[in-house]
Amino acid sequence: MGKFQVIDHPLIQHKLTIIRDKNCGTKVFREVVNEIAMLMAYEVSRDMPLEEVEIETPITVSTQKTLSGKKVAIVPILRAGIGMVDGILELIPAAKVGHIGMFRDEETFEPHEYFFKMPEDIDSRQLFIVDPMLATGGSAIMAIDSLKKRGASNMKFVCLVAAPEGVKLLQEAHPDVDIYTAALDDKLNEQGYIVPGLGDAGDRLFGTK
Ligand code: PRP
Ligand code: URA
Repeated sequence: MGKFQVIDHPLIQHKLTIIRDKNCGTKVFREVVNEIAMLMAYEVSRDMPLEEVEIETPITVSTQKTLSGKKVAIVPILRAGIGMVDGILELIPAAKVGHIGMFRDEETFEPHEYFFKMPEDIDSRQLFIVDPMLATGGSAIMAIDSLKKRGASNMKFVCLVAAPEGVKLLQEAHPDVDIYTAALDDKLNEQGYIVPGLGDAGDRLFGTK
């Protein structure tokens, strides 16, 4: 089973409370989603492999550490995942970005894929799949299915708010994928929204509906 981690640093909890508030407007919502994503990226990238290199400091020759291993691609699930990309790029500026478009049928909650554009070498990259919300888990599971079909094998899923139902289904469907969230909420309601949640993340980010 992959790792499941709630990244509940005080700064993240504080910022999450700001965006959960229904009176938080689009501008602040967008800014704070990116700030949380940046803080989470610090923890999500903790196990990145290092290698030793020899450098010359102004004082002496010295062996020091540098990142090695697989390069990173950030994969936002459209639309709402886009809101997390810039924050992660602040920490990993050389990452490539692949997009996967998914929308959830409002009645059945079934996900539908409508867009897929990845860097050519996703099979040799570490992928950070990002979407603020893990609700039923349908969108995340289908996105990862789709990435695996195209050769991806090294993936972490990063969200802001997760429902227990979605975590369970995602772990069952893709036990090789680590899941990171800023909060594990109580449940889903009958409309498939996370409770207490933060509402429709895409609409709040882009000011729609
Ligand atoms: C939201 C959210 C996730 C999905 C989560 O997207 O951003 O992608 O729902 O729900 P699930 O776990 O039950 O699949 P939505 O379909 O509303 O599209 P949007 O991002 O374009 O608003
Ligand atoms: N998608 C959202 O944007 N919010 C939820 O609470 C559930 C799915």
